[in-house]
Amino acid sequence: MNLKKLYLEYFESLGHVVIPSAPVVPENDPSVLFNTAGMQPLIPYLMGEEHPFGKRLCDVQKCIRLTDLESIGDNTHHTFFEMLGNWSLGDYFKAESIEYSFNFLTKVLNIPVEKLAITVYEGDKQIPKDEVSANNWLKHGISKERIAYLGRDDNFWIAGESGPCGGDTEIFYFRSDEEVPRIFEPSDSRWVEIWNNVFMEYYQDKDGKITELKAKNVDTGMGVERTTAILEGVNDNYLTSIWAPALKTLEKITNLPYQGNEESMRIILDHLRTSVFIAADPSGIKPSNTDQGYILRRLIRRAIRHARKLNIDIASNWEEEIAKIFILEYQDTYKELKENEQVVLDVLKNEKEKFNRTLEKGLKVFEKLTKNMQNVDGETAFHLYDTYGFPIELTIEVAKEANMSVDIDGFKKKFSEHQEKSRTASAGKFKGGLSGDGVIETKYHTATHLLNAALKIVVNKDVHQKGSNITPERLRFDFSCDHKLSDEEKQRVEQIVNDWIKQDLKVDKFTMKKDEAIASGAECMFIEKYPDIVSVYKIGDVSKELCGGPHVKSTKELGTFKIIKEEASSAGVRRIKAILE
Ligand code: ALA
Repeated sequence: MNLKKLYLEYFESLGHVVIPSAPVVPENDPSVLFNTAGMQPLIPYLMGEEHPFGKRLCDVQKCIRLTDLESIGDNTHHTFFEMLGNWSLGDYFKAESIEYSFNFLTKVLNIPVEKLAITVYEGDKQIPKDEVSANNWLKHGISKERIAYLGRDDNFWIAGESGPCGGDTEIFYFRSDEEVPRIFEPSDSRWVEIWNNVFMEYYQDKDGKITELKAKNVDTGMGVERTTAILEGVNDNYLTSIWAPALKTLEKITNLPYQGNEESMRIILDHLRTSVFIAADPSGIKPSNTDQGYILRRLIRRAIRHARKLNIDIASNWEEEIAKIFILEYQDTYKELKENEQVVLDVLKNEKEKFNRTLEKGLKVFEKLTKNMQNVDGETAFHLYDTYGFPIELTIEVAKEANMSVDIDGFKKKFSEHQEKSRTASAGKFKGGLSGDGVIETKYHTATHLLNAALKIVVNKDVHQKGSNITPERLRFDFSCDHKLSDEEKQRVEQIVNDWIKQDLKVDKFTMKKDEAIASGAECMFIEKYPDIVSVYKIGDVSKELCGGPHVKSTKELGTFKIIKEEASSAGVRRIKAILE
């Protein structure tokens, strides 16, 4: 059964036009690193712009979601997946949407209705409880006990912080060989969500205010991997035909069976597949320490760590063998895979070699440091992390091989002591300013973020911070750039920063998980140095950076920004000194 073909044909027969998948890296949306849903490239049309292909659309979209990164290794989550979607742009609404989904599942895919359950939105102060959806499901024969009402965390959908949004109704399938319970318990993990129908009739702005959209839209998303597992009668996504050729190759390479080695094998396969799609994307992403490049680097390195666990000879071409299988599997649908095959293979190989060098160096140091130890103490683990870039997971892994344990609590303690120290140090530095209260330095700190953002506009978006230093007299900012800035460029940077200052943009602080911050596109210098929970400072819509602060409350406090010097700092790095008057 070809799920993707059946889906597109079915919705075409209902008057939908099939549109092509957008690239994994969004073309015109700097607010996210990757397309996380089929609706993302359609946002302007959900907001009311007319779509050239009409009001009914459907597609298969390549998606990358990183909030699930820590869940990878279980049997349902993937960092890359394909999403089947159908949209109504101000055309049909709840009744038809539910009817189409129900009929596709039960009449085209022949899924028994007894195995389905539903959640609907319980409503809130502004949005009413969704009885309309519930009644429609009842009409199609879903029993009352199989419909659960859930709140904002579960049944309200929005991509990120602001944008088109609405309550949704989600379809679950009982994926287990056990007897299907009469009453649906949404927290029971045997019920797997397979399809989400969002009734996108609202717009949420940055302050959380909700207004009605011009039209009532429908946005749906069904996971190809999960639905394939159901159709093929397996309770583990990785046991479907989607993964079979790659899994077989991995079993051959390791000479190990999947059973008993599930976690590492899933991580290797998942991360390599996602890396293939990122590296093949027309945007030309390469492993680096920022944005999409950082994610690519992390995925490849995590795959290598698990390959080591399975005793794969890292120097052999194991990663190429597996990557080639994914390229072959998807190349007819996604042409960029074949076109950029060599680029993909080079990216994987180069990053592997780079990581290997770090590993080798780190392993030598590990041996030296732990020679006379029974177990690895927290201080040593922290030293390996801080000085040699050894993630704690790696230290644990290497220690295990040497029959040692690691004092993880001790490591965490050292880690937070270090955080505290650098916080106090920077607070101290700020207090030490001319004015004695750090007000001036605080202003320079915020101005530095604006300068960073303006350089991205004037020079190019790949400008990144390489260093920064603040005194009460000036700010100093080092950034990656291959040329001396022209007078025109300097003037434009000043003008942009001063415009932002005049607009009196609000400076907001958020606390979030590091992965989420990075995934949301927050700028950051030394990513490995940040703890798992980070502060992100956002200035209006112009800048978003991981940062410890402090910052002013709004930009008007800054006065007038002026560049006083622009010079070379080192190869490929320029330095700007600027003042506030
Ligand atoms: N955009 C919705 C989702 O991703 C359909 O779940």
